[in-house]
Formats: sequence, C-alpha cells, structure tokens
Amino acid sequence: MKLLIKGGRIIDPANNLDMTGDVLIEDGLIKAVAPAITAGDDAEVMDAAGLIVCPGFIDMHVHLREPGFEYKETIATGVRAAAVGGFTTVSCMPNTDPVCDNRAVASFVVEAARREGLVNVHPIGCITKGQQGQEITEMAALVEAGCVGISDDGKPVMNAEVMRRALEYALMFKLPVVSHCEDANLSEGGQMHEGYYSTLYGLKGIPAVAEESMVARDIMLTRMTGSRLHIAHISTRESLELVRKAKESGINVSCEVTPHHLTLTDKELAEYDTDYKVNPPLRSLEHVEALIAGLRDGTIDCLASDHAPHEKEVKDCEFNLAAFGISGLETAVPVVFTHLVATGKVDVNTVVKAWTVGPARVLGLDRGTLTPGKVADITIIDPNESRRVDPQQFYSKGKNNPYKGMNLKGWPYATLVNGRVIAWKGQLV
Ligand code: DOR
Ligand code: ZN
Repeated sequence: MKLLIKGGRIIDPANNLDMTGDVLIEDGLIKAVAPAITAGDDAEVMDAAGLIVCPGFIDMHVHLREPGFEYKETIATGVRAAAVGGFTTVSCMPNTDPVCDNRAVASFVVEAARREGLVNVHPIGCITKGQQGQEITEMAALVEAGCVGISDDGKPVMNAEVMRRALEYALMFKLPVVSHCEDANLSEGGQMHEGYYSTLYGLKGIPAVAEESMVARDIMLTRMTGSRLHIAHISTRESLELVRKAKESGINVSCEVTPHHLTLTDKELAEYDTDYKVNPPLRSLEHVEALIAGLRDGTIDCLASDHAPHEKEVKDCEFNLAAFGISGLETAVPVVFTHLVATGKVDVNTVVKAWTVGPARVLGLDRGTLTPGKVADITIIDPNESRRVDPQQFYSKGKNNPYKGMNLKGWPYATLVNGRVIAWKGQLV
C-alpha cells in the first residue's frame, strides 16, 4: 500500500522542516519526505497543493468519559470527534466512574479504544486512589496497562505530602505527573475568573492565585524530588512566569494551554452562557496575552483541548449549577488557526510543534514527526477552508461549545493513522 501526498507545505518541527514537497507512505510508515518524489504507478496520489501537511496531532488532555458517563461521551464517539478534529493520538483523563486508578479500568480503556481502531488512545491514570487525594495509586500496574502519565485531573491533590510521594514514586516509572493546579479552598464556590467582570456580573470569582499557588507548590516539590511535572491547562500570567523560571533553573517541568484560554476572556460571560463555564475559568485579557506570548516563546510546550463533553441537562440550567467544561475536540484546530495563526500572533510552526513533538515528548510517545521509518500518523490542514461551527453536527455527544455559530477558517482536511485516511473534510471515512 503506497500513498503519495503531493505538493503540500510540509511542516515537521522535530526535523526543523518547513518546505513544499511530497510525503511518501508505504505500508503504514513514512517512506520518504522530499521536494519531489516519483512513486510509480502502484501509488495512490493525494493532491495537497495549498494544504499544510504535519505529523499527526496529539491531544494530551481529553475526557472520553467512559466508563460511567456514557451519556456525556463514549470512547467510540470521543475517538470519532478526535479523528474529525485532526487528531491521531489522544490521552484521556481518569475522572471516569469508576476512576482509572487501577489496572482493570486502564485495560478497559485501552481495549475499548483498540476495538474502535481509529486514533491512538493512551490513558492517564490517577495519582490517588479514587481521586480522593489521600493514598497514591499502584503506578506499576497502571503503567503495565498502558498509562502514559498520572493525574487527578478535575481535582487538585490538596495534600502536599501526598503530592511529594506521588512525584517520587512516579519517577521510578518515568511517568509525568500531570497536575490540575487549583487550591480548592481558594476556588470554592467560584463560577468564573475573579476580577472586574465577576463583580459586574455578580458571580463568585476564582482568583488567579488559586492556580498560581499550586503551580508554585508543585514546582517546589518537583525541584526537591527531581521528578517530572506537567502543568495541565495553564491559565494565568504568574503561573507562566513560575514555569518560565523553573525551566531556566533546570527543573523538569512542562505545561499545556487550551485554545479557549488563548482566545476567550472573562468578559464573554456577559450573557451567562454556560458553554463558557470552564475550569480553570476564562481569564482577563492580560492573562490571555501573556499565554499567547508564552506559547510563542516556547515556555508553553503543548496545546491541549481539555475536551470536556457534557449532557444538555447540566449546561441548560442556572449558571451556578452548571458543570464546567467545553467540548472542544472538533474546534481546537480551526480556533487556533483562525485566532492565532491567521492573525499573525503565533507562527504556524510553533502551533504544529505544540501539537506534535511537544506532547510526544511529555508523554514519551514515539510519535509527532515525519521522520522516514516512523509510523505514518499525519494531519493535513486546509488553511483556507472556512466553515461555521455547528455543535449539532459534532461527532462528540457534547454540544457544549462556545464557538457555536462562529465562522472559523483553517480546518482539518484529512487525518491519517498508520497511513490510512480515517477522516476527510470534516467527515469520518
Ligand atoms: O472544565 C473542566 N471540565 N475542567 C476540569 O478540570 C474537568 C473537566 C471535566 O471533567 O468536565
Ligand atoms: Zn483539569
């Protein structure tokens, strides 16, 4: 089986490559990347003129909700959303029911995803049993079952002693500890970012320091233990400064940012639309601008959607009662291309890097590049394709998306896993 992707703009940050040329795929692997390849009559040819050809995008922070919350999303619907969204690999968070704190649940997720056979799915296991923040999990069993990191995402590990032990223990398995940084006492009852607009709108605020104090704590603990820390969904300027300084002093820390924290502000909550309710909350403009600068200068390693699908009932209700989360897998790529790349705020190479080598390095995956010999996971983007967001058309069960009705430009054109086209122009193949 040969496929020749012809004449696209090939961007492969791992190899410092940005050129117009061809990619030849043979038997599921990258065979060659060159300005002009002649493949012979047995090769299928895909015309990629005007398109951007990249290593397969990796979304390292999604909620697939299974087991337990199948009314929000299933592994089957979640991987379809990922494929159509331009992602070839996802890692999924453990706040399911039961939570992914043991071998059986992790194996279930791996097996269910394998049966779908669409995108690569790697579970992230819990830091603590039951996500209760008290007792650390049997990480060896989680690793054996396929977990690529640990996190109590959705909840912080409030006890610093527990976090210290988790960091030390995770080091034995070279597992990144993915921290949901939130001081639950400071954030308790909060509905949105604390600031001018929370006062104006009369909603209880979540102060930036609820995140920053935990980022500082976890960096300190990582320095002490020599472990590996990854900050999930970073959302404030000071959090970013802490990561920047930690990196400068050689501490092994990385971080991710979501498309919504880069493109929406707290002001947008004026209409109390619960689709904008997310945790961490949408911050004020100064934070958003700092995050964009952090992505640009490489302080931020990864883009991640924090895809958090919810059923209608927990969003179609009073703001104070609504669930936190955005169903973002199917808009992540065009949101970033429309608001950051097309506006010149962030270079396309930086964006591709944060969706490929960035997360591949954090999770230790042999993915994220077009180097010959590697698996042919490829994301092709049409920077000129313009479309209106209609959540009712999502493959995801979660229709909770704040970009609804907006026109976005720069959609995935094709998603290839193991050299096979799995999604094409917004549809599953
Ligand atoms: O908005 C969020 N939703 N933030 C989280 O940390 C958890 C997530 C969820 O699971 O719904
Ligand atoms: Zn989280």
